[in-house]
Amino acid sequence: MNNEQPINTDSPKDWHQETQVSWNTNASIWDTKMGDDGNDFHRLLVRPATEKLLGVKVGDRILDIGCGNGIFSRRLASLGAKVVGIDFSKQLINCAIGRTQAPDAIAYHVIDATDETALLELGENSFDAAISAMVLMDMAEIAPLFRALTKLLKPQGCFVFSVMHPCFNNPHITMVAEETESNGEIQTCCSIKVPKYLQPTITYGLALRNQPKPHPYFHRPLHLLLGEAFRVGFVLDGLEEPAFPSDYPDNYLLSWGGNFSEIPPVLVGRLKLLAA
Ligand SMILES: C[S@@+](CC[C@H](N)C(=O)[O-])C[C@H]1O[C@@H](n2cnc3c(N)ncnc32)[C@H](O)[C@@H]1O
Repeated sequence: MNNEQPINTDSPKDWHQETQVSWNTNASIWDTKMGDDGNDFHRLLVRPATEKLLGVKVGDRILDIGCGNGIFSRRLASLGAKVVGIDFSKQLINCAIGRTQAPDAIAYHVIDATDETALLELGENSFDAAISAMVLMDMAEIAPLFRALTKLLKPQGCFVFSVMHPCFNNPHITMVAEETESNGEIQTCCSIKVPKYLQPTITYGLALRNQPKPHPYFHRPLHLLLGEAFRVGFVLDGLEEPAFPSDYPDNYLLSWGGNFSEIPPVLVGRLKLLAA
């Protein structure tokens, strides 16, 4: 892609607005595609790995950051949690409210997760856990969120995040299919070519093939992504790298599916605060 820029060339505020406009523009198609329960990417990869690390208990108060149309908020509520779902897209919050049948268990708010002050108004020391499902790589700045989480979470609380895997599913990769003939049989081998990883970049891309407006992706290599969390006192104590099973039917030869069963498109991590 040629549209790449180094991260932080413009003021972060410009990128916040650009990202917010994109998500509001794409809200309707995102809502239709994800429906009540999410697509296979969510159901097979993001959800099981997140739930494994989260270990939801009945009565837990959980913050769902970048809740979109509320897929995970509803899921957590169905597991007995009291959920606060926040997103900076008013359109997506409206979709979430429209799809939620048990409004008592979930409170939705339009909040920008880069706004530390607004986040803290949700209540210091009031959450047993927080999640963000496939959100951090959509955020122009993540330091304010990590700072706010150190105060929003109870002392034993955890933050479980999922992102596009920065090593194998960053905006610079190329999906490759090679055919070889062995003993008279054609074999296809799919792999990922990674020409760039270390440089943090902003690149326009698509979360869905038919979304009307490409949105900015903020690629951060692992040491920068996790470094922001480590800097404010979090430690990483759980990690999952889910991939599609090899028998998963691929929609396209070169799309995330069974052809890439050895390569995880998603990274899911659990962060906890170091005891004071
Ligand atoms: C890929 S979607 C994931 C939505 C949802 N978590 C899910 O799993 O279906 C990314 C979401 O993050 C939200 N988002 C991105 N940047 C945000 C920010 N700074 N503050 C709040 N929400 C944000 C977008 O509006 C969008 O709903």
